[in-house]
Amino acid sequence: MSNASKRPMTALPGRALSGSVRVPGDKSISHRALMFGALAAGRTEISGLLTGEDVLATAAAFRAMGATIETRDDGVWVVDGVGVGGLAEPADVLDMGNSGTAARLILGVLAGHGMTAFLTGDASLRSRPMKRVITPLEKMGAIFTCREGGRLPLAITGRVEPMPIRYDLPVASAQVKSAVLLAGLAARGATTVIEHAPTRDHTENMLRHFGATVDVEEADDGGRVVTVKGQPELQAAPIKVPSDPSSAAFPMVAATLVEGSEVSLPGICLNPTRTGLFACLKEMGADLSIENERVEGGEPVGDIAIKASALKGIEVPPERAPSMIDEYPVLAIAAAHAEGETLMTGIGELRVKESDRLATVVAGLRANGVTVEDGEDWMKVTGSGGAIPGGGMVETHFDHRIAMSFLVLGLAAQNPVSVDDGTAIATSFPDFLDIMTGLGAELEFS
Ligand code: S3P
Repeated sequence: MSNASKRPMTALPGRALSGSVRVPGDKSISHRALMFGALAAGRTEISGLLTGEDVLATAAAFRAMGATIETRDDGVWVVDGVGVGGLAEPADVLDMGNSGTAARLILGVLAGHGMTAFLTGDASLRSRPMKRVITPLEKMGAIFTCREGGRLPLAITGRVEPMPIRYDLPVASAQVKSAVLLAGLAARGATTVIEHAPTRDHTENMLRHFGATVDVEEADDGGRVVTVKGQPELQAAPIKVPSDPSSAAFPMVAATLVEGSEVSLPGICLNPTRTGLFACLKEMGADLSIENERVEGGEPVGDIAIKASALKGIEVPPERAPSMIDEYPVLAIAAAHAEGETLMTGIGELRVKESDRLATVVAGLRANGVTVEDGEDWMKVTGSGGAIPGGGMVETHFDHRIAMSFLVLGLAAQNPVSVDDGTAIATSFPDFLDIMTGLGAELEFS
């Protein structure tokens, strides 16, 4: 992104946060609702869909391949699907913007269509590894031409009937698991993915909701063996998207850190593959409670109530990483204010997210007077046991979660904290500024 289109933002410390706010729909579920709706026969109605730029990129891509996707005046999204294997060749390059989930899941869908499509994305997405999905999808018969290192832009030629495979995931990645399962939908026979650590299971839940047969067995090592039966008749089904725990993380941590705060966040997705941050905050001493637990649209949800409290450092077990992979940046912010050290291990995957999040978090913390050490796949934050100095300018590398995390840092610091660019926030949390200022935070474009 050029400097001209960057928009710096600043967070001013001090003001307590209070009130109840609904954070936007879950990003992972929103992508899948549009994709699976497009692959189902009939009309899928989706309420609570996230309208961030990432999800809009998914909608545009599926429209370009023949699905009808429209919004109604009441905010419900309506998808008229084409059936498994029924998408049409896109007439132009599919631009997936900033979204790794959109790009990798669409490659799975395309591997099950006998046509060629071209994919690209923004500078961040074009630097991210696609080999992790290319390798299994090639085994299923798809053909790829891509840039050095398996990067976008790339071309994929899929197969009407890809080969079913049994694939042992080399990285704990729900995106890779989902890409293989989606290609498996078009295969004759059963496609199996073995994951050694459970990753988010929205694909499995939603495919079942649309009528596919998905078997999940617990493996001896604590992982899962997931099998989808190929060539199902996916049937349209209504979807209610719960609020995104990864977006809720920002007002939650802000409310914990800023003295006198008391915030409630209704309808948050509490799928156990997503709640690692909540476990960490509780262990650190956060005053966090979950009320009114229920099931909505096939996902567990609940209302979160959180009050300011002092935190202490913890050791985060590496096996918790998949359940909070997007939450480490904001956990590091909480850790900076906690009493004592917080050690996070087994987090090498952070290096291949929207930015190298290990490097960007470490640089941002140091720029604000926080002591932090890091290695290839770990980070240790030395907490100050109170407000950290702040006063720094943080480079976000067009990473939405880095921008929001460091704005939260600024709300609880001794001095304002600025981020060099707040525009990426619109990829996942378009009303972040309104929601946070509505709670009382002082945040502004500078
Ligand atoms: C996602 C999976 C995670 C996560 C991403 C969304 C998904 O990535 O970081 O924001 O919707 O499947 P990996 O599965 O690659 O870890």
